[in-house]
Amino acid sequence: MKPPNKSFEPIAYAPAQLCVMAREGMISIRKCDDSDFDGILSLLRQLWLDKPINPVTLKEVFGKVVASEHHTCFVAESDGGLLVGFVSLSIKDSLWQEGLVAHIEELVVDQKARGKGVGTALVGHTIAMARDRGCRRVELDSAHHREAAHRFYERLGFENRAVLFSMAL
Ligand SMILES: CC(C)(COP(=O)(O)OP(=O)(O)OC[C@H]1O[C@@H](n2cnc3c(N)ncnc32)[C@H](O)[C@@H]1OP(=O)(O)O)[C@@H](O)C(=O)NCCC(=O)NCCS
Repeated sequence: MKPPNKSFEPIAYAPAQLCVMAREGMISIRKCDDSDFDGILSLLRQLWLDKPINPVTLKEVFGKVVASEHHTCFVAESDGGLLVGFVSLSIKDSLWQEGLVAHIEELVVDQKARGKGVGTALVGHTIAMARDRGCRRVELDSAHHREAAHRFYERLGFENRAVLFSMAL
């Protein structure tokens, strides 16, 4: 396993909107709202390449997620106004941690913007938000085939410490 990237220092707190210099150029990271749905749908299609998506049901769930106090979603926006990245975070009470734990639910960067620091900026902002909310850990699940993403997370300091079991109902 590669050592964590020592140059990765998540900011200490998460303002509602943040401008960061990525290798992409200037991007802003902000909380998303219902009006971002179409841009986020296009990003989620790039995350779940083989999964059929029903935009109507997805939009309904997206509305609940955006409105929920237990979730926070951020988008990364280029200075040209394009959505180039999306991350969704849920926060729950954890008996194991005797406190709050944050879970990254989805993370995706537009194919054309990958490898330019946008994902690092989104994860950094998400960690800052989790710290702000008093979380003791941030976690995520990632499918076995996403090997490049696993390297990305390990470089940011995440430890591969569990296996996910899942059952369709
Ligand atoms: C994983 C992902 C979110 C990283 O975002 P990103 O903006 O490309 O990441 P950054 O530019 O901040 O960091 C790039 C690093 O991630 C790695 N990486 C992972 N997947 C990559 C991809 N498809 N293209 C380019 N770099 C990728 C590179 O090795 C790169 O390392 P380097 O900086 O040493 O060259 C993004 O590549 C992506 O959306 N991948 C497809 C969806 C996915 O797997 N999401 C995670 C689900 S758990």
